[in-house]
Order: sequence, then C-alpha cells, then structure tokens
Amino acid sequence: MAWHSGLVGFFAWDNNTYYQPRLLRALPKPCARVLDVGCGKGVFAARLARRAGEVDALDSSAEMIAAAKRNVPGNVTCLLGDVGEVSLPDDSYDAITSISALHHMSLPHVLPKLAAALRPGGVLVAIAHYRMEYPRDLPAQILSLLTIYGRRAVLLGVPSARRYRRELDESGMPVKDPELTLPEVRGQVRDVLPEARVRRLVQWRYELAWRKPESS
Ligand SMILES: C[S@@+](CC[C@H](N)C(=O)[O-])C[C@H]1O[C@@H](n2cnc3c(N)ncnc32)[C@H](O)[C@@H]1O
Repeated sequence: MAWHSGLVGFFAWDNNTYYQPRLLRALPKPCARVLDVGCGKGVFAARLARRAGEVDALDSSAEMIAAAKRNVPGNVTCLLGDVGEVSLPDDSYDAITSISALHHMSLPHVLPKLAAALRPGGVLVAIAHYRMEYPRDLPAQILSLLTIYGRRAVLLGVPSARRYRRELDESGMPVKDPELTLPEVRGQVRDVLPEARVRRLVQWRYELAWRKPESS
C-alpha cells in the first residue's frame, strides 16, 4: 500500500470513503477474487478492481447496481440481490469486503454465508454502524463529531472536495439506522465467528475482521 493511501481517506468528504484505505490494507496478497457486499454505486468496487483480478459487487438495490455498472471497470461483475438470499460459491473469495452495509442485515443469517464463501485463509473485513448508547458511548460520540467536522472544516478549503460533497447530496443511497449496540454486535459475531475481531472506530462505526482458518 502506497504511503499516501491514508490521505485518500482523510481527504474524503464522506465517512464511507474515509474507511476505504483501511479495507484495502487488509486485503491478502495475492488477491485474485473479492466480493464487495452492499456495494452501492460501486465506488469501492472500482478501487478493489485495481488490486484484485476479479471483483463481484453485490447490492440489493436495482438503482445502486445500475449506477455501479456505470462506475466500474471490466473486471467487476455487478450483481443485483440480497446477500441473505443469493447463492454464493463455496470457498471462493480471497476477501469479502463491506462498507456501511452489514447493519442493514441480520448478522446471524449473513455471517455464516460469507464465511462459507471465503477460501481457507481468506479474509472478511467490514465496516458497519452500531447504535450509540448513552452515557457509555458519549466519549466516542464526541470524538466522532470532532474528527468528522474537523476533517470537513479542512476540506471546505479544497475545491474538489466541495464538488464531491454536492454530488454526494444527490446520491439517493439506501441508508438504515443501526439496531444493535456495540456489545450486541460483539455478542452476535462471537456466536458465529468466535475468532473474529470487532473494533470500535470513530464515526459510529466498527470494524469486523476475520480470517478463515486454513484447515476448515
Ligand atoms: C449505506 S450504503 C453503502 C454503500 C457502499 N458500500 C458505500 O460505501 O458507498 C448500504 C448499501 O447496502 C445495500 N444493502 C442493504 N441491504 C443489503 C442486502 N441484504 N444485500 C445486499 N445489499 C444490501 C443497500 O442497497 C446500500 O446500497
């Protein structure tokens, strides 16, 4: 990963793009095939396509998949479907990624499917939202507001960032408030993937990271 990739995150106006470099760093090497779950307009799938031979970009919104098809290069296959319903190939993906989508889904239903679709040694790495609970999450809330608005205050001075913000306002991306608190996320993940790591991140998000054992 080039030294400047973290700057892409910092100079991103939106919080999903902010986390893209983190996921790219987690990809295994080599990385032939990746699945991006809840791909939205395919912006991250297009970046993944520079790092992987083949990318499957899956989303349950026909509007998002239509937009993704316009945004991705030829080695990305855009798939319309609900990840809980579609059939995924077993032991196939080197990595499964997801940004701001897992909280739209039932973790106990979806995580076993994603685990089965990874090849042994493959990685699942996802950023999703948790529901803040007060007063416990107050320090995380304050830190999140400071990082987001601090970053945006800097970006207001960058013309390209201002342009990108206007495009985002028209995005129409399906969003959902998270139902689970962080301890509830940890509990559900532990039940399905006991070795997975769930880390609290700023901006009301957590990272779920799991490597499928080589022997399974
Ligand atoms: C907040 S958007 C994030 C999009 C994209 N990952 C990004 O970073 O810009 C969440 C996406 O997840 C998709 N989604 C929600 N539930 C889904 C499901 N069960 N299967 C596949 N995609 C789903 C939505 O249609 C939406 O495009």
